Amino acid sequence: MITQNDFVMEEKLKEIFVKKFETTPLIVKSPGRINLIGEHTDYNDGFVLPASIDKYAYVALQKRDDDKISLYSIDFEEQHEACLNDLSSPEKHWPVYILGVVDQLLKAGFSIKGFNLVICGTVPIGAGMSSSAAVECATVFALNELFGLGIAKIDMVKMAQKAEHEFAGVKCGIMDQFASMFGKSNQLIRLDCRSLEFEYVPFLMKGIKIVLLDTNVKHSLASSAYNERRIQCEKGVELIQQYQPLVKSLRDVDMEMLDKYVLPVDELVYRRCKYVVEEIERTTKACNDLKEHDFISFGKKMFKTHEGLSTLYEVSCAELDFLISQVKNNPDVLGARMMGGGFGGCTINLVKEEAADDLIEKISIAYQKAIGRKLNYYHVSVDDGTSTVNR
Ligand code: GLA
Repeated sequence: MITQNDFVMEEKLKEIFVKKFETTPLIVKSPGRINLIGEHTDYNDGFVLPASIDKYAYVALQKRDDDKISLYSIDFEEQHEACLNDLSSPEKHWPVYILGVVDQLLKAGFSIKGFNLVICGTVPIGAGMSSSAAVECATVFALNELFGLGIAKIDMVKMAQKAEHEFAGVKCGIMDQFASMFGKSNQLIRLDCRSLEFEYVPFLMKGIKIVLLDTNVKHSLASSAYNERRIQCEKGVELIQQYQPLVKSLRDVDMEMLDKYVLPVDELVYRRCKYVVEEIERTTKACNDLKEHDFISFGKKMFKTHEGLSTLYEVSCAELDFLISQVKNNPDVLGARMMGGGFGGCTINLVKEEAADDLIEKISIAYQKAIGRKLNYYHVSVDDGTSTVNR
């Protein structure tokens, strides 16, 4: 769906590109994502239930005759220059995701030339909606189009993920990039992160709104703690493998194995793994709830997920926990939990439509009073994945 907002954004982007480079660009947009349930399960071969949303990263680009890469960010009002044979990880934040993708294309042996690129976006940065995956997917899709590389979508997703690993230093799973690229209007994606098989599940919650409440904080330990969680999960698997060599990831693990092989050796690793094992199972059951239109049961599982993320996996924070405590016993809220990597960002709330405005107002006041910060909020709808903007 194209809204007035998108239209203005695309026109502005085109105008600035033409002004700077005196040629008409190819424009690609790629969305941010939400995730209904299945958090920190993707890098453990589990299931996730994300969807792409109506907030995007936009890139406008065109080929150059030399090997230079000239980047301009409208949002940051900054320029960055690089060269195909010297991409060295830039100090500025935003070029990392673009150049990280170029790096992957070169490593995979694709032949590309230099290019001019202008970027802007509507995915809030640091709010847990995966603005970085949106930029990576927009870039890889656009370069694939521009240079006619013929890369399959799933391989673009993998390259975008690797760009995040190698240039941004976050050992993320595949969920964000997959959701951005493969998203579909009004559909959730039930993705098996082991086989990468997926199915679209219609998002048919009539009378229910998805409200994202944004803590407006991003604690600095987020990416190092993320990588640390991943290592702790791997440690749990290693402990079990000594006795059960067929176990490859936490997807293959049950509570009995954890109790027997992990708990006596490392209590912290046990708690991390317990959360993941429970969440993988919870996500499967939540998908069944959706199929049966049992949103009450689905919502309860979201609260359970939050509890696990907060007390066992310990990736929540005071601000997120506060927002959840505010909605937990509210009958107008079917379910809520922190969303994404954690340590800040948003909570995702399924709220009865008629109660949403009132709820946001009340929580904003309470948040300001208790935390001393402004609460941001977003209404999001589920929209299509990465695409070319034809205009
Ligand atoms: C971040 C990562 C994802 C996923 C989530 C947690 O968004 O990029 O791969 O691990 O955290 O579910």
